Amino acid sequence: MIEVKQPALLERYQRLIEISRNLASTLNLENLLNQIVHAAADLCNAQAASILLYDSKKRELYFSATSNLAEPLMRGLTVPVESSLAGWIVTHREPIIIADAQSDPRHFSGVARSTNITTTSLLGVPLINKEEVVGALEAINKLEGGFSQEDLEVLTALGSMAAVAIENARLFQQSDLISVLVHELRTPLTSINMATRLLLRPETSTEMRENMIRTILDETNRLSEMTTAFLDLARIESGRMQFQVQHFDVLPVLEGCVRMMQARALERGIQIDLEARECQYQIKADPDKIKQVFLNLLHNAVKYNRPEGKITIKVDAEDELRVSFADTGPGIPEESLPHLFEKFYRVPGTEKAAQGTGLGLSICQRIIEAHGGRIEAQSEVGAGSTFTVFLPLEKSC
Ligand SMILES: Nc1ncnc2c1ncn2[C@@H]1O[C@H](COP(=O)(O)OP(=O)(O)OP(=O)(O)O)[C@@H](O)[C@H]1O
Ligand SMILES: [Mg+2]
Repeated sequence: MIEVKQPALLERYQRLIEISRNLASTLNLENLLNQIVHAAADLCNAQAASILLYDSKKRELYFSATSNLAEPLMRGLTVPVESSLAGWIVTHREPIIIADAQSDPRHFSGVARSTNITTTSLLGVPLINKEEVVGALEAINKLEGGFSQEDLEVLTALGSMAAVAIENARLFQQSDLISVLVHELRTPLTSINMATRLLLRPETSTEMRENMIRTILDETNRLSEMTTAFLDLARIESGRMQFQVQHFDVLPVLEGCVRMMQARALERGIQIDLEARECQYQIKADPDKIKQVFLNLLHNAVKYNRPEGKITIKVDAEDELRVSFADTGPGIPEESLPHLFEKFYRVPGTEKAAQGTGLGLSICQRIIEAHGGRIEAQSEVGAGSTFTVFLPLEKSC
C-alpha cells in the first residue's frame, strides 16, 4: 500500500495563511473558486474538492468549481437542496464527515450518474458570510483512511476565508459588469434618441428619414447583441451557464455559420472558404454553444478583415478536433496577443475599425474551456490572424 504522508497541523495552518493571502488578492471569481477547491483537496489529502453555490430562490445548489480537471462539464450541474449532502450542510449550517457516502440516504446520486466519480468518504463545510449561507465546500475521497476531526478544523477555517473572498469577488464583479454595461448602453441610446427627435421634425427630408431609421435599426441590433453578451458573461461567471450536451457532427454546424455570415461578408466583398475532408467530425458538446463560438470567430474575421479579403475555415482531426479561422485582416500586434481573451479588451485603435464590446472572445474561451478544449490566436501584422479551436474528439470519418 502506498503511504500518503499527512502534513502536521501547524504546517497545514501555515499553508492556510499563505492561501488566505492569495485569496484576498484575487477578485476574479472563477480564479478564486479554482484556488479554493485546489487548496481544499490539497490540505485535506482528498481526491477532489468542489464548491457548490446556493441559489436560495430556486432552492438548489450548483457546482461552481471542482478540482477534478477531467470533469469540466460538472460546472453548472445542479443538486437539489432537499435530497443532497450539500443541501443538508447548507440548511443545517453544520459541517459533516461521512465515511461512506453511498450508504448515506442524504447522498445525491445524480452527480455520479453524470460524471465518472464515485464518492466514498466526504467532508463538507458550509460557506457562511455575515450570517448568510452562500454554499458548501466539499472534499471527497480521502486518499488514505477517513477524514479526521483535524481535517474538519482545517476545512472549516478555509471555508470561512473562502466565503468572505467569494462575496468580495461577487461584489467587485457586479459593480464592474454593471458600470461597464451602463456606460456601453449610453452611446447607442444617445444615437437612437437623437434620430427619433429628428424624425419628429416636419422639415426632415425623406432621405434623412431613411437614414435615421437605419441608424435606429443598427443601434437597436447593437443593444440587443450587447445585452446578450453581458448576460452570457454574467451566467458563465456565476457558474450558471447550463450545457445541453449531445453527440453531433461539427461540419453541418460550421456550414450553417457560413450561411448566416454570408450576407455580412458579401457586403464587404469578403469570400469565405470552408476546407474539410468528406468526413464526420463527431464531438460531445452543447451544439448551440459551439455554434455561438464559431459565429463569434467568423464574425470577428469579417469585421476585422480588409475589403475584398478572404476567410479560410479549416477542419481536421487527429487526437483532437481542430477548427481554424484564418483571415486577411490587418493582424494583431504581438503585445496585444496575451490580452485578447480578457473581457472588455480591444486592441488599441479597434474602435475606428468596427463596433464591439470586447466580450466575444472571452465568452468563446470560457465556453470552449468548459468543454475541455482550448482556443489559440496567432497573427502577423499586415498579413492576417488565425484563431484555432481545439476540442476533444469522439470519432472522425
Ligand atoms: N480576426 C481578428 N483580427 C484582428 N483583430 C481581432 C480579430 N479578432 C479579434 N480581434 C481584436 O480582439 C479584440 C477582442 O475581440 P472580441 O471578439 O472579444 O471583442 P469585439 O469584437 O471587440 O466585441 P464583441 O465581440 O464583444 O462584439 C477586438 O476588439 C479586436 O481588437
Ligand atoms: Mg467579437
